[in-house]
Amino acid sequence: MPSLNRKKPILAFFCNWAPYRCYMDLCRSESSFRHLIYPVKVMCSGRVDPAMVLFAFEKGAEGVMVLGCKDKECRYGPGPKQSTKIAEPIKALIHILGLESERFRSVKYSFNEKNRLLEEIDSFAKTVDKLKKSPFVP
Ligand code: FES
Repeated sequence: MPSLNRKKPILAFFCNWAPYRCYMDLCRSESSFRHLIYPVKVMCSGRVDPAMVLFAFEKGAEGVMVLGCKDKECRYGPGPKQSTKIAEPIKALIHILGLESERFRSVKYSFNEKNRLLEEIDSFAKTVDKLKKSPFVP
């Protein structure tokens, strides 16, 4: 198994429902993350504010993901649309701060997509690995 990359921490905001369920299924399975993931559970991806993402970068995250439910599966209604709506402004903001926009990714899941979640996190971590170290890393 490839070694855990402890030098490039990734913070992942997981909606409590579908994405976190996929994450927990992965944690219980034989699969394992090859990268250091800091999961933060939120009740809905629509609750993730751009300030929370910027704070994560300020505190040393090399990459930040927002993992929400698919559009019609959100328990509260507008969460996925809200997380989509803030994605581009977040990328623009981090670009202004001197960070590459690839350091942020927003993705949506159904309950049964643990393998897709693993692939997406792996793909995101590889993208982040290719970037220079964040200037905000303490
Ligand atoms: Fe999961 Fe809203 S409940 S995104």
